[in-house]
Amino acid sequence: MIYLADTANIEELKKLFYYFPLEGITTNPTIIAAENKPMSEILPQLVELVGDKMLHVQMISSKAVDMLREAKAYKKKYGLGDNFFAKIPVTEEGFKAIRMIKDSGINVTATAIFTQQQALVAARAGADWVAPYVNRLDNISSHGIEVVGYIAQSIKQYGLNSKVLAASFKTVDQVHRVSLVGSHSATVSYEILERLRSHPMTDTSVEAFEKDAEGLYDIEF
Ligand code: E4P
Repeated sequence: MIYLADTANIEELKKLFYYFPLEGITTNPTIIAAENKPMSEILPQLVELVGDKMLHVQMISSKAVDMLREAKAYKKKYGLGDNFFAKIPVTEEGFKAIRMIKDSGINVTATAIFTQQQALVAARAGADWVAPYVNRLDNISSHGIEVVGYIAQSIKQYGLNSKVLAASFKTVDQVHRVSLVGSHSATVSYEILERLRSHPMTDTSVEAFEKDAEGLYDIEF
């Protein structure tokens, strides 16, 4: 499973790209709104930071033709290449847009997925990635991990080209569990990425190693 950062905060992304083996960035309108800056200010910075890793940007139009225009405009204005993915919510218009955008040569991530069937339809429509929302499912007494598992299993079973981009996490355990049920990727907030890579016993072990090494390691480097 690969990791993406589910944030548009430039300071967080700079810190993450410094040390974490990230494969890209995902955003949605809520993530952009949290930055209190217009998209025209944020997007160029994301493009610069992400380099040749993946950049998934959500389209905000409600009609399929407008989603296509939006995706084309982003691609042209910011010179985006194959690492750009137009995130399309799986509404009726969204399903239509997935096919139109794919036909135009732009990559697509189907988003706001809550069932295995929505994911299967999106995959059949040609979406490169399908994004089920784990925590939002868990919050309504449903089973996010189970849905992700069904989607990963179906993609494998039917030999589809789509991959799972598990999204919406509030705990490290949710990320851990989607990796066990075959999710190809997880897009995770800064806070949870920081938590999942750390453990207090790692810190105490390193402190003890440093203490034991004092005065003994005399080889210069
Ligand atoms: C992906 O980018 C999704 O939009 C995002 O993970 C949703 O997360 P949330 O449920 O925490 O808002």
